[in-house]
Amino acid sequence: MEIEYPLQMGMSDPFDQLLQWLQELNFPADRPRITLSYAQSLDGSIALENNAQLVLSNPISNRMTHHLRAHHDAILVGIGTILADDPQLTVRLSEGRDPQPIILDRQLRTPLESRIFQNERKPWIIAGREAPEIRRKMLEAAGATIHTLPTNEDVHIDLKALVGLLAKEGLRRLMVEGGAQIIRSFLEERIVDLIVLTIAPIFVNGLHSMGSGNTTFRSPFPRMDQPHWQMFASDLVLWGELKYGDP
Ligand SMILES: NC(=O)c1ccc[n+]([C@@H]2O[C@H](COP(=O)([O-])OP(=O)(O)OC[C@H]3O[C@@H](n4cnc5c(N)ncnc54)[C@H](OP(=O)(O)O)[C@@H]3O)[C@@H](O)[C@H]2O)c1
Repeated sequence: MEIEYPLQMGMSDPFDQLLQWLQELNFPADRPRITLSYAQSLDGSIALENNAQLVLSNPISNRMTHHLRAHHDAILVGIGTILADDPQLTVRLSEGRDPQPIILDRQLRTPLESRIFQNERKPWIIAGREAPEIRRKMLEAAGATIHTLPTNEDVHIDLKALVGLLAKEGLRRLMVEGGAQIIRSFLEERIVDLIVLTIAPIFVNGLHSMGSGNTTFRSPFPRMDQPHWQMFASDLVLWGELKYGDP
């Protein structure tokens, strides 16, 4: 049974403030506007250490995420998240259209039985040039659209090429949900425009939001400009624009 948490005093719709903010923002000229949104514990964990799924959002902040999805044209995760959580990436707790699901999966490891294939909107899978032809055929037969892009020096899908492709496909608002390697790559590439972060009031000491053993970002660090915040019951949701220069 879903627990109903009390909403913040005096608010008819708890998501008005966030969605209003989202609608007032500008778009980059040459690529989709990118929103990074994920949930973490107080110590910055997004999953258990063995990548096992961890429910962090409470029912209200979870609903907020679905409202956010409905305000984006596409939603992106890495293959690590597909393998660990088998997410649907649909809008179920809000009204609105499902965003186009996109998976970054260089070697086409997405399982054919993934729940994402049950969606009305079949996934786009972004593969590297070396992806096995047989997997390409099998995933296409299951309904996926495979886009092939170059890889970068880290042998990951090149994110500049990705945003170019998405712009060409007419997508204007991309929501990036994770996991750790994807969050790090998008921040490292300095292409995250907006961040909506849910912080659950627990300590986990699990998988850190940027993964483990990483190199520090280059300075000036990505910085949230004019942060907004709201409590959704016991979860703190923090949102703002990301800037990459000195304040
Ligand atoms: N709390 C939350 O809000 C939240 C949200 C989402 C996920 N998660 C958690 O995150 C965990 C998964 O995170 P993860 O780090 O293992 O996997 P991930 O970030 O979901 O996926 C990483 C994989 O994506 C592929 N990839 C392709 N291009 C990439 C690029 N440019 N940058 C980075 N990766 C790229 C790589 O595999 P190939 O080289 O094979 O392509 C890479 O190993 C799960 O446990 C899940 O529960 C939590």
